[in-house]
Amino acid sequence: MKITRRAALKSSALAASALALRGPRMFSQASASADARIDILPGEPIGTISPEIYGHFIEHLGGVVYDGVWVGEGSKIANTGGVRQSFIDALRSVGASLLRWPGGCFADSYDWRDGIGNPASHPARTGFWTQQETNRYGLHEFIRTCRAIGAKPYLAADMRSLPARDFYQELEYCNAPAGNVPSNSAAPAVPNSLATQRAANGDRDPFNVDLWGVGNESWGCGGNLEPEEYAAMYRRFTAWTPSYGDIKPRFVAVGGNGDDVDFTRRMFKALYANNEKRNIYGLSIHYYTSGNATEFAAGDAVKFTDGEYYDLLARGSMMDGIVRDQWTAIQTTQQPSQPAVRLIVDEWGAWYGPGTRVAPGYNLSQQSSMRDALLTGITLDIFQRHAEKVAAACVAQSINCLHSLVLAAGDQSCVTPTYHVFKMYLPHHGAQAVRAEFSAAAITNPLAKPAMLMDGVSYAGPAEGSRRLAGLSGSASISATNPKLVTLTVVNPHLDRPITTEIAVGGASIASASGTVLAAPDVHAHNDFAHPDAVKPTAASVGSPSGGRLMHTFPPASVTSLQITLS
Ligand code: AHR
Repeated sequence: MKITRRAALKSSALAASALALRGPRMFSQASASADARIDILPGEPIGTISPEIYGHFIEHLGGVVYDGVWVGEGSKIANTGGVRQSFIDALRSVGASLLRWPGGCFADSYDWRDGIGNPASHPARTGFWTQQETNRYGLHEFIRTCRAIGAKPYLAADMRSLPARDFYQELEYCNAPAGNVPSNSAAPAVPNSLATQRAANGDRDPFNVDLWGVGNESWGCGGNLEPEEYAAMYRRFTAWTPSYGDIKPRFVAVGGNGDDVDFTRRMFKALYANNEKRNIYGLSIHYYTSGNATEFAAGDAVKFTDGEYYDLLARGSMMDGIVRDQWTAIQTTQQPSQPAVRLIVDEWGAWYGPGTRVAPGYNLSQQSSMRDALLTGITLDIFQRHAEKVAAACVAQSINCLHSLVLAAGDQSCVTPTYHVFKMYLPHHGAQAVRAEFSAAAITNPLAKPAMLMDGVSYAGPAEGSRRLAGLSGSASISATNPKLVTLTVVNPHLDRPITTEIAVGGASIASASGTVLAAPDVHAHNDFAHPDAVKPTAASVGSPSGGRLMHTFPPASVTSLQITLS
């Protein structure tokens, strides 16, 4: 993949992430028999956890769409309308709120018109990832995929190779009602031609797509643009777009990669260069965690040393600092007359080198081990702790790719440890995030090096913020429907240390608790077609509270979800 190396990042910008990696400082003293303490503070609400932070992403790349999502209507593989049933079932069962498509880098050379109309006439093209793109799977198939899953579609529009007209016409094709369109004009209402075309192509009902990415990684594969150039294009693409009925398009602008706040600041400064009101909802940021401490997109997905394990989780935890830094960049450039902008982390996950492809031809496909489950828990907890900042996020990518939930080839399919974590975090969806103070000794990253300059693709090497990994981390929320029900999710990254923890809730007593835990005797454990249940969650062994507090032991290298009932 060709991505321009951006200006090096200053490691000091990540200083805030160190705040998340708390050392042995005790918020309140843990009991003598405890290794750690968690104080849940219902009196300190953070915000409602948007269900859209549990979003997904599929791109025309390797085995993601073809043989992954799309098996075809005539396939012997179980499917609904050509979409692999096991994919639908898996994404349904994790409450997938969003599905982003068609890329990624693919999006910026994709003409949505190539994938509509009679499938036999869809033209084949060479796609971004140097694949032969048949265009058999297009907009209608994608919308049906979303409907089958119950997810909202999130479309990434081609900004690099198509003009603004194609963007607003795609919006019209998706959202205009079929039939006569009420018109603000003396001319009589007539059937809308694009909506009529959509109906003729099989979908009379509008797609009602409200979330739109205006370009993708425009600093890299999406055009190699300077932030000022991108801002000018964004203004042009969004200055006027049609809207229909209650669907008000939410536009997402491209922000800096990872912690590149310089891009974000310059982009916003240029975006607000005149006083016209912008149409903007979110800022897209991407952060991948390489499987190698010094090289991007390297390392093995299932063969790794203890040091590499801690290093990956420490660098993955830097998402916390990225969210804080990018948020600050938004706040400091915000104009009072402009809409409030929230963060959309629409690509995240671990990115390893080749070696564990699920099947030949599956470009960028990799296995997912227990290590990835921990990275998933750490990342979702970060988004939950920043519920007021992060409006949406998409894991990259949902099937047969980086950090996937589902692996599939032919008629075989299995779910990964990451899938299980998404499922365990279901009670957080739409709940009220509250502050939770974790007090546990931090782990020193054995591969950490002095702070170094990093490129813009991701953090290739350990920077200041990755020197230490929280010895226990997580997040807490209170159910939107039951104020006495608290969900606490916790990651214990220690490879060989169970962490006995005293859990208390400020101003309340714990009456009872139950939970689920994902752990494996070996952190390299993973599922494959022959061993689909090698890693799966079990009921957590939860004792009875005493004096309104709970003592719980988090097993080594585990992700736990506790449901705590207050008296
Ligand atoms: O997810 C793979 C690629 O990573 C996406 O196409 C691109 O947006 C990012 O660089």
